[in-house]
Amino acid sequence: MPVITSIADLKRLHKRRTPKMFYDYAESGSYTEQTFRENTEDFAQIRLNQRIARDMTGRSTKSTMLGQDVAMPVALAPVGMTGMQRADGEIKAARAAEKFGVPYTLSTMSICSIEDVAENVSQPFWFQIYTLTDDDYNKRVLDRARAAGCSALVITVDLQLLGQRHKDLKNGLTAPPKFTPAVLADLATKWRWGIEMLQTKRRFFGNIVGHVESAADPASLASWTAEKFDQSLNWDRIKQLMDMWGGKVILKGILSEEDAEMAAATGADAIVVSNHGGRQLDGALSSIRMLPKIVNAVGDKTEVWLDSGIRSGQDVLKALALGAKGVMIGRAYVYGLGAMGEPGVTKALEVIQKELDTSMALCGKRRIEDLGRDDLLIPNGFFDTYS
Ligand code: GLV
Repeated sequence: MPVITSIADLKRLHKRRTPKMFYDYAESGSYTEQTFRENTEDFAQIRLNQRIARDMTGRSTKSTMLGQDVAMPVALAPVGMTGMQRADGEIKAARAAEKFGVPYTLSTMSICSIEDVAENVSQPFWFQIYTLTDDDYNKRVLDRARAAGCSALVITVDLQLLGQRHKDLKNGLTAPPKFTPAVLADLATKWRWGIEMLQTKRRFFGNIVGHVESAADPASLASWTAEKFDQSLNWDRIKQLMDMWGGKVILKGILSEEDAEMAAATGADAIVVSNHGGRQLDGALSSIRMLPKIVNAVGDKTEVWLDSGIRSGQDVLKALALGAKGVMIGRAYVYGLGAMGEPGVTKALEVIQKELDTSMALCGKRRIEDLGRDDLLIPNGFFDTYS
Protein backbone atom coordinates (compact mmCIF):
# COMPACT_ATOMS: atom_id res chain seq x y z
CA MET A 1 0.00 0.00 0.00
CA PRO A 2 1.71 3.24 -1.08
CA VAL A 3 1.94 6.08 1.43
CA ILE A 4 -0.59 8.69 0.33
CA THR A 5 -0.01 12.17 1.68
CA SER A 6 -1.79 14.40 -0.83
CA ILE A 7 -4.40 14.56 -3.56
CA ALA A 8 -1.49 14.72 -6.02
CA ASP A 9 -0.41 11.22 -4.89
CA LEU A 10 -3.90 9.91 -5.64
CA LYS A 11 -3.85 11.59 -9.03
CA ARG A 12 -0.59 9.85 -9.96
CA LEU A 13 -2.02 6.46 -9.00
CA HIS A 14 -5.29 7.20 -10.78
CA LYS A 15 -3.37 7.90 -13.98
CA ARG A 16 -1.37 4.70 -13.64
CA ARG A 17 -4.35 2.42 -12.91
CA THR A 18 -7.17 3.74 -15.11
CA PRO A 19 -7.63 3.49 -18.88
CA LYS A 20 -6.31 6.62 -20.56
CA MET A 21 -9.71 7.45 -22.04
CA PHE A 22 -11.30 7.82 -18.60
CA TYR A 23 -8.37 9.47 -16.87
CA ASP A 24 -8.29 11.99 -19.72
CA TYR A 25 -12.05 12.53 -19.45
CA ALA A 26 -11.61 13.59 -15.83
CA GLU A 27 -8.40 15.51 -16.40
CA SER A 28 -9.48 17.80 -19.18
CA GLY A 29 -10.93 21.21 -19.74
CA SER A 30 -12.50 22.50 -22.91
CA TYR A 31 -10.50 23.86 -25.85
CA THR A 32 -7.21 25.47 -24.71
CA GLU A 33 -7.86 24.45 -21.07
CA GLN A 34 -7.07 27.99 -19.93
CA THR A 35 -9.96 28.11 -17.46
CA PHE A 36 -9.21 24.58 -16.28
CA ARG A 37 -5.62 25.64 -15.46
CA GLU A 38 -6.54 29.00 -13.96
CA ASN A 39 -9.01 27.44 -11.53
CA THR A 40 -6.08 25.91 -9.65
CA GLU A 41 -3.50 28.61 -10.44
CA ASP A 42 -5.74 31.31 -8.97
CA PHE A 43 -6.17 29.39 -5.73
CA ALA A 44 -2.38 29.22 -5.51
CA GLN A 45 -2.08 33.03 -5.73
CA ILE A 46 -4.09 33.48 -2.55
CA ARG A 47 -2.00 33.06 0.61
CA LEU A 48 -2.89 32.25 4.19
CA ASN A 49 -2.30 34.54 7.16
CA GLN A 50 -0.21 32.77 9.81
CA ARG A 51 -1.19 33.67 13.37
CA ILE A 52 0.31 32.50 16.65
CA ALA A 53 -0.52 32.24 20.33
CA ARG A 54 -4.18 31.60 19.71
CA ASP A 55 -5.78 28.69 21.50
CA MET A 56 -6.19 26.06 18.82
CA THR A 57 -7.65 23.29 20.99
CA GLY A 58 -11.13 21.89 20.47
CA ARG A 59 -11.15 22.54 16.74
CA SER A 60 -13.85 21.23 14.44
CA THR A 61 -14.41 21.20 10.69
CA LYS A 62 -18.11 20.42 11.21
CA SER A 63 -20.65 22.64 9.52
CA THR A 64 -23.95 22.43 7.64
CA MET A 65 -24.89 22.44 3.97
CA LEU A 66 -28.57 23.01 3.14
CA GLY A 67 -29.33 22.52 6.80
CA GLN A 68 -27.70 19.08 6.78
CA ASP A 69 -24.90 18.36 9.28
CA VAL A 70 -21.60 17.67 7.52
CA ALA A 71 -18.22 16.52 8.84
CA MET A 72 -16.75 19.33 6.73
CA PRO A 73 -18.50 21.61 4.23
CA VAL A 74 -17.27 19.63 1.23
CA ALA A 75 -19.79 17.77 -0.93
CA LEU A 76 -18.98 15.28 -3.68
CA ALA A 77 -19.95 16.92 -6.97
CA PRO A 78 -21.84 15.11 -9.71
CA VAL A 79 -19.27 13.57 -12.05
CA GLY A 80 -20.24 11.80 -15.26
CA MET A 81 -18.95 8.26 -15.90
CA THR A 82 -17.63 7.78 -12.37
CA GLY A 83 -18.38 4.07 -12.77
CA MET A 84 -15.86 3.91 -15.61
CA GLN A 85 -13.03 5.21 -13.43
CA ARG A 86 -13.47 2.09 -11.33
CA ALA A 87 -16.14 -0.62 -11.46
CA ASP A 88 -19.28 0.43 -9.54
CA GLY A 89 -17.58 3.78 -8.93
CA GLU A 90 -20.70 5.71 -7.99
CA ILE A 91 -21.63 3.15 -5.32
CA LYS A 92 -18.09 3.24 -3.93
CA ALA A 93 -17.96 7.05 -3.85
CA ALA A 94 -21.43 7.32 -2.28
CA ARG A 95 -20.51 4.82 0.43
CA ALA A 96 -17.26 6.61 1.23
CA ALA A 97 -19.10 9.95 1.44
CA GLU A 98 -21.79 8.53 3.69
CA LYS A 99 -19.29 6.97 6.08
CA PHE A 100 -17.28 10.19 6.20
CA GLY A 101 -20.36 12.37 6.75
CA VAL A 102 -20.40 14.51 3.62
CA PRO A 103 -23.07 14.69 0.88
CA TYR A 104 -22.78 12.70 -2.33
CA THR A 105 -24.32 13.85 -5.61
CA LEU A 106 -25.16 11.28 -8.26
CA SER A 107 -24.85 12.51 -11.85
CA THR A 108 -27.51 11.71 -14.43
CA MET A 109 -24.55 10.60 -16.61
CA SER A 110 -23.56 7.97 -14.07
CA ILE A 111 -22.90 4.33 -14.80
CA CYS A 112 -24.62 3.00 -11.65
CA SER A 113 -28.29 3.95 -11.64
CA ILE A 114 -30.16 5.90 -8.98
CA GLU A 115 -31.57 2.60 -7.70
CA ASP A 116 -28.13 0.93 -7.64
CA VAL A 117 -26.78 3.67 -5.39
CA ALA A 118 -29.90 3.80 -3.19
CA GLU A 119 -29.60 0.06 -2.53
CA ASN A 120 -26.04 0.49 -1.30
CA VAL A 121 -26.32 3.46 1.05
CA SER A 122 -28.55 4.15 4.01
CA GLN A 123 -28.64 7.97 4.03
CA PRO A 124 -30.27 10.16 1.38
CA PHE A 125 -27.95 11.37 -1.38
CA TRP A 126 -28.43 14.22 -3.86
CA PHE A 127 -29.30 13.79 -7.50
CA GLN A 128 -28.17 15.94 -10.44
CA ILE A 129 -29.99 16.64 -13.69
CA TYR A 130 -29.13 18.59 -16.80
CA THR A 131 -31.61 20.85 -18.49
CA LEU A 132 -33.14 18.56 -21.12
CA THR A 133 -36.00 19.23 -23.50
CA ASP A 134 -37.63 15.86 -22.84
CA ASP A 135 -40.14 16.41 -20.00
CA ASP A 136 -41.28 12.85 -20.14
CA TYR A 137 -37.75 11.76 -19.24
CA ASN A 138 -37.35 14.61 -16.74
CA LYS A 139 -40.50 13.59 -14.87
CA ARG A 140 -39.60 9.92 -14.82
CA VAL A 141 -36.06 10.47 -13.64
CA LEU A 142 -37.22 12.87 -10.92
CA ASP A 143 -39.85 10.34 -9.80
CA ARG A 144 -37.11 7.73 -9.55
CA ALA A 145 -34.90 10.11 -7.55
CA ARG A 146 -37.79 10.89 -5.21
CA ALA A 147 -38.59 7.18 -4.80
CA ALA A 148 -34.90 6.56 -3.98
CA GLY A 149 -35.15 9.16 -1.20
CA CYS A 150 -32.84 11.78 -2.76
CA SER A 151 -32.97 14.83 -0.52
CA ALA A 152 -31.94 17.58 -2.95
CA LEU A 153 -31.72 18.17 -6.66
CA VAL A 154 -28.67 19.74 -8.29
CA ILE A 155 -29.61 21.35 -11.60
CA THR A 156 -26.61 21.92 -13.86
CA VAL A 157 -27.33 25.22 -15.58
CA ASP A 158 -24.11 25.71 -17.54
CA LEU A 159 -24.31 22.82 -19.97
CA GLN A 160 -26.88 23.26 -22.71
CA LEU A 161 -24.22 22.17 -25.15
CA LEU A 162 -20.87 20.59 -24.55
CA GLY A 163 -17.64 22.62 -24.44
CA GLN A 164 -15.35 20.57 -26.66
CA ARG A 165 -12.72 18.51 -24.87
CA HIS A 166 -10.13 17.63 -27.49
CA LYS A 167 -8.85 14.55 -25.66
CA ASP A 168 -12.28 12.91 -25.55
CA LEU A 169 -12.63 13.20 -29.31
CA LYS A 170 -9.13 11.91 -29.93
CA ASN A 171 -9.63 9.01 -27.51
CA GLY A 172 -13.06 8.12 -28.96
CA LEU A 173 -14.60 8.31 -25.46
CA THR A 174 -17.60 6.02 -24.87
CA ALA A 175 -19.00 4.03 -21.97
CA PRO A 176 -18.23 1.19 -22.19
CA PRO A 177 -15.11 1.69 -24.33
CA LYS A 178 -15.04 0.34 -27.86
CA PHE A 179 -12.22 -2.14 -28.28
CA THR A 180 -9.98 -0.45 -30.83
CA PRO A 181 -6.32 -1.60 -31.04
CA ALA A 182 -5.24 1.51 -29.09
CA VAL A 183 -7.78 0.80 -26.33
CA LEU A 184 -6.78 -2.86 -26.13
CA ALA A 185 -3.09 -1.92 -25.88
CA ASP A 186 -3.91 0.50 -23.07
CA LEU A 187 -6.12 -2.02 -21.23
CA ALA A 188 -3.30 -4.57 -21.27
CA THR A 189 -1.52 -2.42 -18.68
CA LYS A 190 -4.69 -1.73 -16.63
CA TRP A 191 -5.50 -5.32 -15.68
CA ARG A 192 -6.91 -4.51 -12.23
CA TRP A 193 -9.44 -2.14 -13.79
CA GLY A 194 -10.40 -4.78 -16.36
CA ILE A 195 -10.86 -7.61 -13.85
CA GLU A 196 -13.10 -5.48 -11.64
CA MET A 197 -15.06 -4.27 -14.65
CA LEU A 198 -15.68 -7.85 -15.79
CA GLN A 199 -17.14 -8.61 -12.37
CA THR A 200 -19.86 -5.96 -12.55
CA LYS A 201 -22.81 -5.69 -14.90
CA ARG A 202 -22.82 -1.89 -14.55
CA ARG A 203 -20.99 -0.76 -17.66
CA PHE A 204 -23.55 1.49 -19.38
CA PHE A 205 -25.15 4.83 -18.54
CA GLY A 206 -27.52 3.39 -15.93
CA ASN A 207 -29.93 6.33 -15.84
CA ILE A 208 -30.20 6.56 -19.60
CA VAL A 209 -29.88 3.20 -21.33
CA GLY A 210 -33.34 1.63 -21.17
CA HIS A 211 -34.90 4.86 -19.90
CA VAL A 212 -34.95 7.00 -23.06
CA GLU A 213 -36.61 6.42 -26.38
CA SER A 214 -33.92 7.43 -28.82
CA ALA A 215 -30.35 8.42 -28.32
CA ALA A 216 -28.20 8.33 -31.43
CA ASP A 217 -25.37 6.62 -29.56
CA PRO A 218 -26.39 5.91 -25.96
CA ALA A 219 -22.73 5.22 -25.12
CA SER A 220 -21.62 8.73 -25.98
CA LEU A 221 -21.96 11.80 -23.79
CA ALA A 222 -21.41 14.05 -26.80
CA SER A 223 -24.22 12.59 -28.87
CA TRP A 224 -26.66 12.54 -25.92
CA THR A 225 -26.02 16.22 -25.19
CA ALA A 226 -26.29 17.21 -28.84
CA GLU A 227 -29.62 15.44 -29.15
CA LYS A 228 -31.43 16.13 -25.89
CA PHE A 229 -30.10 19.27 -24.22
CA ASP A 230 -32.26 22.40 -24.14
CA GLN A 231 -30.55 25.24 -25.93
CA SER A 232 -33.62 27.43 -25.43
CA LEU A 233 -33.20 27.26 -21.64
CA ASN A 234 -34.40 30.39 -19.79
CA TRP A 235 -35.33 31.23 -16.20
CA ASP A 236 -38.99 30.22 -16.66
CA ARG A 237 -37.83 26.80 -17.73
CA ILE A 238 -35.43 26.54 -14.78
CA LYS A 239 -38.35 27.42 -12.49
CA GLN A 240 -40.47 24.71 -14.18
CA LEU A 241 -37.79 22.12 -13.48
CA MET A 242 -37.50 23.31 -9.88
CA ASP A 243 -41.28 22.99 -9.47
CA MET A 244 -41.26 19.58 -11.12
CA TRP A 245 -38.93 18.47 -8.30
CA GLY A 246 -40.72 20.32 -5.52
CA GLY A 247 -37.91 19.91 -2.98
CA LYS A 248 -34.57 21.54 -2.24
CA VAL A 249 -32.71 22.76 -5.30
CA ILE A 250 -29.08 23.68 -5.91
CA LEU A 251 -28.31 25.56 -9.14
CA LYS A 252 -24.79 24.68 -10.28
CA GLY A 253 -22.87 26.72 -12.81
CA ILE A 254 -23.39 30.38 -11.80
CA LEU A 255 -20.52 32.70 -12.64
CA SER A 256 -22.02 36.19 -12.75
CA GLU A 257 -23.70 38.44 -10.20
CA GLU A 258 -26.78 38.96 -12.38
CA ASP A 259 -27.29 35.22 -12.82
CA ALA A 260 -26.80 34.76 -9.07
CA GLU A 261 -29.50 37.40 -8.42
CA MET A 262 -31.85 35.57 -10.80
CA ALA A 263 -31.09 32.23 -9.17
CA ALA A 264 -31.86 33.63 -5.72
CA ALA A 265 -35.04 35.31 -6.97
CA THR A 266 -36.12 32.03 -8.58
CA GLY A 267 -35.89 30.36 -5.19
CA ALA A 268 -32.68 28.29 -5.35
CA ASP A 269 -31.80 26.97 -1.90
CA ALA A 270 -28.12 27.06 -2.87
CA ILE A 271 -26.05 28.07 -5.86
CA VAL A 272 -22.68 26.75 -6.90
CA VAL A 273 -20.26 29.32 -8.26
CA SER A 274 -18.73 27.16 -10.94
CA ASN A 275 -17.30 27.07 -14.45
CA HIS A 276 -17.83 23.30 -14.55
CA GLY A 277 -14.21 22.62 -13.70
CA GLY A 278 -13.10 24.54 -16.78
CA ARG A 279 -14.95 22.06 -18.99
CA GLN A 280 -17.46 24.43 -20.54
CA LEU A 281 -16.68 28.08 -21.43
CA ASP A 282 -12.93 28.13 -21.98
CA GLY A 283 -11.81 31.70 -21.24
CA ALA A 284 -14.23 32.17 -18.34
CA LEU A 285 -12.64 33.43 -15.12
CA SER A 286 -11.87 31.03 -12.31
CA SER A 287 -14.60 30.38 -9.78
CA ILE A 288 -12.52 31.69 -6.89
CA ARG A 289 -12.04 35.05 -8.64
CA MET A 290 -15.80 35.41 -9.13
CA LEU A 291 -16.77 34.23 -5.65
CA PRO A 292 -16.60 37.43 -3.53
CA LYS A 293 -18.77 39.48 -5.90
CA ILE A 294 -21.40 36.76 -5.96
CA VAL A 295 -21.35 36.31 -2.18
CA ASN A 296 -21.73 40.06 -1.87
CA ALA A 297 -24.72 40.05 -4.23
CA VAL A 298 -26.71 37.09 -2.88
CA GLY A 299 -24.97 35.66 0.18
CA ASP A 300 -27.81 36.82 2.42
CA LYS A 301 -30.49 35.29 0.16
CA THR A 302 -29.19 31.83 -0.65
CA GLU A 303 -26.30 29.54 0.28
CA VAL A 304 -23.35 30.22 -1.96
CA TRP A 305 -21.00 27.31 -2.62
CA LEU A 306 -18.05 26.98 -4.98
CA ASP A 307 -16.55 24.30 -7.15
CA SER A 308 -13.78 24.20 -9.79
CA GLY A 309 -10.17 24.07 -8.66
CA ILE A 310 -10.34 22.62 -5.15
CA ARG A 311 -7.46 20.19 -4.68
CA SER A 312 -6.65 20.64 -0.99
CA GLY A 313 -7.94 21.62 2.42
CA GLN A 314 -6.08 24.92 2.00
CA ASP A 315 -8.24 25.60 -1.08
CA VAL A 316 -11.36 24.78 0.93
CA LEU A 317 -10.23 27.22 3.62
CA LYS A 318 -9.68 29.95 1.01
CA ALA A 319 -13.15 29.51 -0.49
CA LEU A 320 -14.81 29.51 2.93
CA ALA A 321 -12.81 32.53 4.04
CA LEU A 322 -14.08 34.38 0.96
CA GLY A 323 -17.67 33.70 1.96
CA ALA A 324 -18.60 30.34 0.45
CA LYS A 325 -20.77 28.32 2.83
CA GLY A 326 -19.46 25.10 1.29
CA VAL A 327 -17.63 23.65 -1.67
CA MET A 328 -17.95 20.73 -4.05
CA ILE A 329 -15.08 18.55 -5.18
CA GLY A 330 -15.02 16.51 -8.37
CA ARG A 331 -11.57 15.56 -9.61
CA ALA A 332 -10.12 15.45 -6.08
CA TYR A 333 -12.29 12.46 -5.17
CA VAL A 334 -12.25 10.88 -8.63
CA TYR A 335 -8.44 10.64 -8.37
CA GLY A 336 -8.95 8.70 -5.14
CA LEU A 337 -11.54 6.43 -6.70
CA GLY A 338 -9.41 5.66 -9.75
CA ALA A 339 -6.39 5.08 -7.51
CA MET A 340 -7.87 2.81 -4.85
CA GLY A 341 -11.65 2.48 -5.14
CA GLU A 342 -13.76 3.27 -2.07
CA PRO A 343 -10.75 3.53 0.31
CA GLY A 344 -9.25 6.00 -2.15
CA VAL A 345 -12.29 8.28 -1.92
CA THR A 346 -12.10 8.02 1.86
CA LYS A 347 -8.40 8.86 1.66
CA ALA A 348 -9.12 11.94 -0.49
CA LEU A 349 -11.64 13.15 2.09
CA GLU A 350 -9.23 12.45 4.96
CA VAL A 351 -6.40 14.32 3.22
CA ILE A 352 -8.59 17.35 2.61
CA GLN A 353 -10.02 17.36 6.13
CA LYS A 354 -6.58 17.06 7.72
CA GLU A 355 -5.23 19.89 5.58
CA LEU A 356 -8.25 22.04 6.38
CA ASP A 357 -7.97 21.35 10.09
CA THR A 358 -4.21 21.98 10.24
CA SER A 359 -4.46 25.16 8.17
CA MET A 360 -7.30 26.46 10.33
CA ALA A 361 -5.22 25.84 13.44
CA LEU A 362 -2.18 27.64 12.02
CA CYS A 363 -4.36 30.58 11.00
CA GLY A 364 -5.57 30.67 14.60
CA LYS A 365 -9.11 29.53 13.88
CA ARG A 366 -11.06 26.75 15.54
CA ARG A 367 -14.40 26.73 13.78
CA ILE A 368 -15.58 26.93 10.18
CA GLU A 369 -17.84 29.89 10.93
CA ASP A 370 -14.86 31.87 12.27
CA LEU A 371 -13.04 31.79 8.92
CA GLY A 372 -12.97 35.14 7.14
CA ARG A 373 -11.08 37.60 4.99
CA ASP A 374 -8.57 38.13 7.84
CA ASP A 375 -7.23 34.60 7.18
CA LEU A 376 -6.13 35.50 3.67
CA LEU A 377 -3.45 37.56 1.98
CA ILE A 378 -4.53 38.39 -1.54
CA PRO A 379 -2.52 40.12 -4.28
CA ASN A 380 -3.61 43.74 -4.67
CA GLY A 381 -6.22 44.11 -7.38
CA PHE A 382 -6.69 40.32 -7.64
CA PHE A 383 -10.46 40.56 -7.80
CA ASP A 384 -10.47 43.65 -10.05
CA THR A 385 -7.93 42.57 -12.65
CA TYR A 386 -10.68 41.99 -15.20
CA SER A 387 -13.72 44.19 -15.82
C1 GLV B 1 -20.36 16.51 -17.84
O1 GLV B 1 -21.04 17.24 -17.16
C2 GLV B 1 -19.00 16.77 -18.18
O2 GLV B 1 -18.50 17.84 -17.82
O3 GLV B 1 -18.36 15.92 -18.81
